[in-house]
Amino acid sequence: MTAPLRIAIAGLGTVGGGVLKALHARGAELAERAERRLDVVAVSARDRTKERATDVSRIAWEEEAARLAHSEADVVVELIGGESGPALELIEAALANGKHVVTANKALLAHHGARLAGLAEKKGLALKFEAAAAGGIPIVKALRESLIAHGVNSVRGILNGTCNFILTNMEKTERSFVEVLTEAQALGYAEADPTLDVGGGDTAHKLALLASLAFGNAPDLDNMLVEGIENISSADIAYAQEFGYRIKLLGVARRAGDGIEQRVQPAMVRVGSPLGDVDGAFNAVAVDAGAAGPFFFEGRGAGEGPTASAVVADLVDIALGSFEPAFGKPAHTLVPLVPASPEATTSAYYLRFDVLDIPGVVAEIAGHLAEARVSIESMLQRGRNPGEPVSIVMITHETPQVAVARALKAIATSDKVVGPPRMIPMETG
Ligand SMILES: NC(=O)c1ccc[n+]([C@@H]2O[C@H](COP(=O)([O-])OP(=O)(O)OC[C@H]3O[C@@H](n4cnc5c(N)ncnc54)[C@H](OP(=O)(O)O)[C@@H]3O)[C@@H](O)[C@H]2O)c1
Repeated sequence: MTAPLRIAIAGLGTVGGGVLKALHARGAELAERAERRLDVVAVSARDRTKERATDVSRIAWEEEAARLAHSEADVVVELIGGESGPALELIEAALANGKHVVTANKALLAHHGARLAGLAEKKGLALKFEAAAAGGIPIVKALRESLIAHGVNSVRGILNGTCNFILTNMEKTERSFVEVLTEAQALGYAEADPTLDVGGGDTAHKLALLASLAFGNAPDLDNMLVEGIENISSADIAYAQEFGYRIKLLGVARRAGDGIEQRVQPAMVRVGSPLGDVDGAFNAVAVDAGAAGPFFFEGRGAGEGPTASAVVADLVDIALGSFEPAFGKPAHTLVPLVPASPEATTSAYYLRFDVLDIPGVVAEIAGHLAEARVSIESMLQRGRNPGEPVSIVMITHETPQVAVARALKAIATSDKVVGPPRMIPMETG
């Protein structure tokens, strides 16, 4: 057997603790697969006195994470988090000092991934991040190494377990976003500050990585529409059900015209479709891989066990000397993303208008839609007491998003329309 792979781990929280546990529990089997032992030689976390699930007393401890870049380790595992600060400092220092890097840090990679991939490549080092997108689902490896022959047309994912938990429970219990979020926080499914999750930012980080792997561009957060789930109402969820749909926060990256469309948005997904039936805190990714066909991956996107599984798989690849460029192709060939033209961004849309129940209101809305060349496939109106606002719900045919946006802008100015119109794309398949 070759010499052990020496590992330094920064961050001993959910993911780091899980990695230590897995290496401890399955050391012998993993050594057989890796053809060498995987030895943790140094660790770092914030608080040395904190009790850890695995005994680290005989492992060298560094007060400052960046010092791990100067340890005897062959590979540094960054599991601190944060898009800059100590995590970035450590990764840059580790690569500069000839250490392979494994990280689960999607925020950092979405911002600095292309540059760090270049640094790793110059030194012939690995930069691996299977746990950074969809946790335990091996989607990074699949896009980077497996689904490459025919090219990828689209990647669509439920990439944030917190949002999926909230939306699933809003539907099941007919409660509001705020009520279900509060419960999710109490159960530990949502952070005290849930902004990054419910605002779509976390999904955006993961989507930027998946799009880069699928389409060969540098991760790009600038050319991405990002909308969270905060404004999804119980009414929208109930109407979705009437039409045979569910609302999911989707990250979608697809070829559209000559460019790539990237968007994070609540979307209507058909009940009974693979994405439509992903419940609770699960993640899923649907890939259209051209002539290879459609693929669907589902599993746990977070938590100790799934994320440790992904990190350990990266470590075994490094131990075997089997590693590709971080994003599947040489870093200097990661071109800037060419955004799809607005006309190429098309979908069918669910539209909801709360209107005053007075004659002529439907005709006025229909007139604005017709003017923008948006045609309606179906319509539903729920009456209430005379004089009170009613909801008009319409499903459009496939149409450019810009056309619908133009019509909604005009409709929103009507004195018969109460509150902003709602627009949710419908996903097919
Ligand atoms: N949790 C998940 O399910 C999951 C899934 C996918 C990806 N990730 C990513 O994995 C990374 C880690 O997440 P996590 O959930 O494991 O976080 P966590 O439970 O909050 O753990 C963070 C760890 O980093 C340590 N730490 C904080 N600041 C430090 C510093 N300046 N120097 C050294 N150590 C420091 C903490 O030390 P103390 O323990 O002493 O406080 C803690 O051990 C993040 O990038 C996250 O986005 C997490």
